[in-house]
Amino acid sequence: MRLLVLGGTVFLSKAIVAEALRRGHEVTAAARGTTSNPPEGATFVKLDRDDENGFAALEGEYDAVVDVARQPTHVRRAISALADRAKHWTFVSTCSVYSDDATPGQRVETAPLRQPLAADADEADPANYGEAKVSCEQEVAAGRGSDALIVRAGLIVGPGDPSDRFTYWPYRIARGGEVLAPGKPDDPVQLVDVRDLAAWIVDSTENGRTGVYDSTSTSFTRRQLLEAVAAGVGTDVQLTWVPQDFLLANEVNVWSGPKSLPLWVDEPENAGFMARDTSATAEAGLTIRDVADTARDTLVWIVDERGDKPWRSGLTEAEETDLLRNWHSR
Ligand SMILES: NC(=O)c1ccc[n+]([C@@H]2O[C@H](COP(=O)([O-])OP(=O)(O)OC[C@H]3O[C@@H](n4cnc5c(N)ncnc54)[C@H](OP(=O)(O)O)[C@@H]3O)[C@@H](O)[C@H]2O)c1
Repeated sequence: MRLLVLGGTVFLSKAIVAEALRRGHEVTAAARGTTSNPPEGATFVKLDRDDENGFAALEGEYDAVVDVARQPTHVRRAISALADRAKHWTFVSTCSVYSDDATPGQRVETAPLRQPLAADADEADPANYGEAKVSCEQEVAAGRGSDALIVRAGLIVGPGDPSDRFTYWPYRIARGGEVLAPGKPDDPVQLVDVRDLAAWIVDSTENGRTGVYDSTSTSFTRRQLLEAVAAGVGTDVQLTWVPQDFLLANEVNVWSGPKSLPLWVDEPENAGFMARDTSATAEAGLTIRDVADTARDTLVWIVDERGDKPWRSGLTEAEETDLLRNWHSR
């Protein structure tokens, strides 16, 4: 297969290139090359999607195109230049396109979407991410109708993740001792290992799958998550469950960023955020490895490759110690 990945130099799109190469496909990765390089064995085409004629650098026809763009203009240009030259089209979207994060058990067919991005909005602003992805999906639909695969990914985790969200947990738990566990043990979580998602996307390009899929695991509990991480990194820890109200009162951020606890969101506003009904995706063959395996491999990546750049998510050791002390002495 002749596969074109628009991206291919970081995390998910890089994993898709790696997986397709492993299966013997002929892969082109097209990006600016500012962040990193695609895996060895791929043909790299340097192009900038901010440039109206950027896609002129790509020639010929493709059996499949995979696009991970976040900006509608970038998607519109890709569709206009390539939609007629590709047999199969995958657009990687996100569960952030949904407008109702409060209701658990929602499905693709019935879950309401956010509004598309307003014409005068800044499409590069991360605050507009969900709306921009809705508009990106609309650009794909305008160019390909229903002849495309729309992958609405949940949290993508594993080796190479630049966001440090799931990564915080293997890193923290490997240190052992008393670990601050946020919220309630039975709170739902969902995630997808980057390698499993990449494999499923390459499967889909091979078998011509189209349609819209919430592409993440079935939901499981935060206790199962943290225990699986501990098993994966081989450390015994004591989990101290600290409720939402205490964490919010102490200015701990949900989800990501400084002084945050990843894979924790506030309820009831976000009770459905990691409790989507993904049974249709599981039926379509997305299988997700044991979280313990993801945690073990992520720890290896932290040690061997992540380097000592500042952490983008999680608590520092001092922040966690302070919070636990305050919790016990309340
Ligand atoms: N991470 C998550 O948990 C999560 C969850 C849900 C959905 N998603 C979705 O999953 C996808 C993740 O993709 P990813 O891991 O490959 O990361 P990404 O950061 O979305 O990758 C963007 C790719 O596009 C290239 N690119 C960016 N700007 C460009 C431009 N102006 N011209 C040409 N190329 C450009 C980048 O390379 P250069 O910078 O070198 O050009 C890179 O290869 C995204 O679609 C994201 O919305 C992610």
